[in-house]
Amino acid sequence: MRTGAFFFALLIAALAAASASAFAQGDATDAELVKRGEYLAKAGDCAGCHTAPQAGAPFAGGLGMGSPFGTIMTSNITPDKQFGIGDYSYDDFAKALREGVARGGKHLYPAMPYPSFSKITDDDMHALYAYFIHGVRPVHKEAPPTKLPFPFNQRWALALWDLAFSPEGRYKPSPEHAVEWNRGAYLMQSLGHCGACHTPRGPAFEERGYDQSSKHYLTGGVNDHWFAPNLTADPGSGLGRVQQREIVSFLRGGHGGGLVSFGSMVQVVEDSTQYMSDDDLNAIAIYLKSLPAQKPSGAYTPHSRAASLTATAMHTGEIARPGSGIFMSYCAKCHQADGSGVANKYPKLAGNPAVLAPDTTSLIRLLVEGGSSPETKNGPERKKMPAFAEKLTTAEIAQVLTFIRTTWGNDARPVATREVQTLRADIHK
Ligand code: HEC
Ligand code: HEC
Ligand code: HEC
Repeated sequence: MRTGAFFFALLIAALAAASASAFAQGDATDAELVKRGEYLAKAGDCAGCHTAPQAGAPFAGGLGMGSPFGTIMTSNITPDKQFGIGDYSYDDFAKALREGVARGGKHLYPAMPYPSFSKITDDDMHALYAYFIHGVRPVHKEAPPTKLPFPFNQRWALALWDLAFSPEGRYKPSPEHAVEWNRGAYLMQSLGHCGACHTPRGPAFEERGYDQSSKHYLTGGVNDHWFAPNLTADPGSGLGRVQQREIVSFLRGGHGGGLVSFGSMVQVVEDSTQYMSDDDLNAIAIYLKSLPAQKPSGAYTPHSRAASLTATAMHTGEIARPGSGIFMSYCAKCHQADGSGVANKYPKLAGNPAVLAPDTTSLIRLLVEGGSSPETKNGPERKKMPAFAEKLTTAEIAQVLTFIRTTWGNDARPVATREVQTLRADIHK
């Protein structure tokens, strides 16, 4: 009898414990879903575009994005019922992200990377939705509207654009490749929308390819006056000479293999890639290193005769090539006379793929405006590159860029004064 009561008590206790843990698990799953959504929102850099500069409230919109049609303002995507997406059902949300059609039927401009987001899996989409509805603070404030001139203000026409250019369907894993490769491909092609900057665009602003089946995919593109370089295995201006672990370190802390992220990549590292897990960054690097070289351009031959002659001449001060004096006076103290840079502070210029790029937009813009390296939770501290708009003439900027593109074994085409002039006029600097 006593043992019977004991077992009965034990049974009750066990049932109570089981039901308590079932409740706890219910909560944990929701909290976990929101947490996973938060991670995915970082991977998709939703905050980077949906937050106004100068301390705008997170996700409340109001960042103006330059596009060939004019400035497009990002929307408030906090769960505010009036000004945000508080009234969005899951289906509304998925449709906006994948098809570029907001609740109520408004067609979105492809400045919102829905052509890439169309590949997001259903699981990830549910997690993102849970985060935006339950994990983000509503902001009761209207984002400034987009005002484009005719005919670009005719949003209905975007439906035709979508028919012609926007890919459809979720990411389809490739059975020929390992799990990591597929994870990297998925992250880059969907949430990461890396191709939005790194893939060249066609005449209608469409990306010329959304995966490795296109020879244009990730071969470099200009967006908002920054050139995002070739990420295929091209040994000159691509990632051919950059190791997998260096790519991981570059994405995690903005520094890797002597390269330092600059221009629009600084925000990508600060807002997005620094938060990705080591496994995910590794997967991205594995995928990147698998891409065959496309559109080769520029070359680096550090041990050539010409390279060693220059090195000797620079040490003995005999060198009289145009641009060399400017380099020694204005650049060498950080980037070093031999172009080797300083680890975790200043990028190397010798053999730096971005320096060898066929498109010089980023190089010219960086020299004119200056810049600063990303500040991340685990990476090296922020360092500044000064602006040279006041210190150097347009011709001198062309000369020093030509110098760094043709010295230490670097071999890329010279930069013309006219190119510098044109870009300065475009960016009003
Ligand atoms: C590269 C910039 C960029 C990124 C990254 C981005 N968006 Fe957007 N998004 C935009 C722009 C621009 C618009 C407004 C487009 C328009 O008005 O046609 C927009 C619109 C939206 C809308 C429609 C809201 C409405 O009712 O007007 C939703 C929802 C949205 N984005 C969600 C997201 C989420 C979630 C993410 C991250 C997974 C994200 N966006 C990432 C640029 C971006
Ligand atoms: C907003 C535009 C933009 C987006 C989105 C973007 N990048 Fe970049 N990226 C750039 C620019 C501009 C550069 C050149 C400056 C530099 O080297 O940091 C660059 C450089 C790089 C480099 C160094 C290449 C080199 O030769 O120096 C790597 C690697 C890279 N990006 C990977 C990625 C990955 C992976 C993603 C997606 C998760 C991504 N980028 C998304 C603009 C972008
Ligand atoms: C005070 C130190 C300093 C001086 C002087 C300086 N730079 Fe830089 N440079 C940097 C830093 C820091 C970066 C990274 C900038 C960023 O991330 O926005 C950089 C980046 C670059 C890059 C992009 C390469 C990459 O991988 O990030 C080029 C090209 C460059 N500098 C050329 C020059 C030239 C040419 C001069 C002289 C006219 C010069 N720099 C003078 C500190 C300096």
